[in-house]
Amino acid sequence: MAKYDRAVSDPLFDLDGRVAVVTGGMGQLGAAVAVGLAERGMRVAILDVETEPRAGSPGIATAVDEGTVRVHACDVTDRGALEAALALVEVDYGVPHVLVNAAAIDAPPDAPAAEVGPFEDVPLDSLERVVHVNVTGVVVCCQVIGGAMARAGRGSIVNVGSVYGLLSPDQGLYDFRREAGETFFKPVAYSVSKSALLNLTRYLATYWGGSGVRVNTLTPHGIENAQPEPFVEAFAARSPLGRLMDVSEALGAVVFLASDASSYVTGANLVVDGGWSAW
Ligand SMILES: NC(=O)c1ccc[n+]([C@@H]2O[C@H](COP(=O)([O-])OP(=O)(O)OC[C@H]3O[C@@H](n4cnc5c(N)ncnc54)[C@H](O)[C@@H]3O)[C@@H](O)[C@H]2O)c1
Repeated sequence: MAKYDRAVSDPLFDLDGRVAVVTGGMGQLGAAVAVGLAERGMRVAILDVETEPRAGSPGIATAVDEGTVRVHACDVTDRGALEAALALVEVDYGVPHVLVNAAAIDAPPDAPAAEVGPFEDVPLDSLERVVHVNVTGVVVCCQVIGGAMARAGRGSIVNVGSVYGLLSPDQGLYDFRREAGETFFKPVAYSVSKSALLNLTRYLATYWGGSGVRVNTLTPHGIENAQPEPFVEAFAARSPLGRLMDVSEALGAVVFLASDASSYVTGANLVVDGGWSAW
């Protein structure tokens, strides 16, 4: 047999037969993670308020059709709904081994002007709405699903943060919107919410350290998603790798954090940002 004529398989990264819950799994990153984990033999349940695959997401549509990924309608801020979804997952598959908290909201490109206006005037209800989903939602998922993992004595939680929770947004990326006459600032709510996850991760890593549940943050940045060309160019000019990230490039980090390859890694923040935070 030639040395490299078969796929590399390493038991360190083996996830076959284990159970994953991916919140926000109908979204761009969550769908790529859900499909990627299912392709590695995991039994995957998505919890999302959306239950229909998005147009242009053929991988998740096929995985849902073929039943390799199951979708549960569930709001991550609703503890009763989460408990009901977990009960169904446990009947289907057993106690989850992996929880990826990817559900989140941000101000959409067509957000009301006040929400993306000057910091001094940002309406507090928009901040509270974002924090409710992005922070409270992750806390409740960790309570319900992480709690079940802790009772089972094993598990790995991946909280999906953002470079905007680690560093301030570079408002210069959005100059093109201001040059077009808009008042636009990347709002503070998303940054505040994502930075909270860094310490939620550290808190839970220590809290569950003796229960066999590891908790880490994954910090991606700049996933390519048909953004306007001036944004893509401004991003590339600031990125050490000179480009946005393909969504598939998050998967390796999730597989590492989910698998026994990271058995001594907890409370950490794995930054997948093309070097953005390196200068
Ligand atoms: N896209 C990026 O460039 C980028 C960069 C850094 C970090 N992230 C993070 O990655 C994660 C996924 O981002 P994405 O770009 O795929 O976003 P997305 O909007 O495509 O997906 C988010 C998903 O979360 C779901 N969701 C929202 N509120 C929910 C709720 N209350 N309960 C259950 N589900 C809910 C949505 O229905 C959607 O399917 C988020 O945590 C985001 O902050 C994204």
